[in-house]
Amino acid sequence: MAWPVGAYNARMAGSAAHDIEPSAIRRRLRAWYRRHARDLPWRRRRDAYAIWLSEIMLQQTQVATVIPYFATFLQEFPEVADLARAERSTVLRLWAGLGYYRRAHQLHAAAQHVVREYGGEFPKTVEGLLTLPGVGRYTAGAIASIAFDCRAPILDGNVKRVLARLTASPASPDDPREIRRLWSLAEALLPRRGSGDFNQALMDLGATVCTPRDPDCARCPLARDCAAHLSGRTAEIPRPKARARVQPLKLTCFVVTAGDRVLLTERAAGGLWAGTQALPAGESVNGNGLRSVARELLPVAVLRRIRSWQPAGEVRHRLTHRDVTVEVHAAAIARVRVPAPYRWSGDGDHRVLPTVFRKVLRLEHFREFSGETSPK
Ligand code: ADE
Repeated sequence: MAWPVGAYNARMAGSAAHDIEPSAIRRRLRAWYRRHARDLPWRRRRDAYAIWLSEIMLQQTQVATVIPYFATFLQEFPEVADLARAERSTVLRLWAGLGYYRRAHQLHAAAQHVVREYGGEFPKTVEGLLTLPGVGRYTAGAIASIAFDCRAPILDGNVKRVLARLTASPASPDDPREIRRLWSLAEALLPRRGSGDFNQALMDLGATVCTPRDPDCARCPLARDCAAHLSGRTAEIPRPKARARVQPLKLTCFVVTAGDRVLLTERAAGGLWAGTQALPAGESVNGNGLRSVARELLPVAVLRRIRSWQPAGEVRHRLTHRDVTVEVHAAAIARVRVPAPYRWSGDGDHRVLPTVFRKVLRLEHFREFSGETSPK
């Protein structure tokens, strides 16, 4: 599979393939990876459980953020059966701060699936791995190649960028045809053995050299193969993504304190911060007064004791597709019994709330409750 220099190959359905010499690319990338691979904790392991855990955590999340969580999970749950056996609430507590909480639910469900359906052994093929909750084509390819040396491709944002530049693709990286083309190219480039290292080398190249802005082509092992570099177009390729539409979301959050305790609840299963421990908070629907929002979010026993709410400030929090503004109201009451899922916080509980609620408790108004000084 070699295409002539500079020529755009019409057979590749609108793609911009030029002279790609897979064997040279494999050789150069392998040599580069031997010297420049990032030293990451999951790379010291080859077992599917640890690889799977790292790949789920790394979905949409930076390497540096994942490292301490990866260590904690392996310490708490050394084997997949330990994770499967854990309470969902324990998993969510340990996941707090990592974001995208749906992943924690799926992680736990997948561990139970592995134990129940596969006798505690991870499936060794992409097809088998795809049966696990939370595992899509990318994650299945990463696990299959890294843990089982399957010849399975991966395509994440970093790899897309490397391959788009390599072929000087003028297409938008969101275009389904372009995505299909990049998956085929990722597959065509794979070596017969060592696909896991090859895939991770592409990831590292994208993360450290072939960066979105100012790629360091002088240090790139594939510069001489790269159509974008050879034609001076790395700055234009890949074409910028259509910007994700970020929707504003207004929440009202109630901080009810009793002495040094704060009223917590559990988020509903389906929505934002699903299933996590949280401060009572809900959408402020137009026209709904504070009292009516409070009635929806707080137990009667607590509501009865609240004379008035004090405004405690506002918190802004950015999620991928939501720009969240939280209007915070405070009330102090004497402690009363509250029905599940409500409960009064215990020591250290504040630290395991999702980041947005930790920001709320860092408002000046709650200085003595926050239990911390800076976010994780
Ligand atoms: N991102 C996703 N998977 C990764 C891996 N295995 N190494 C580094 N970054 C990653």
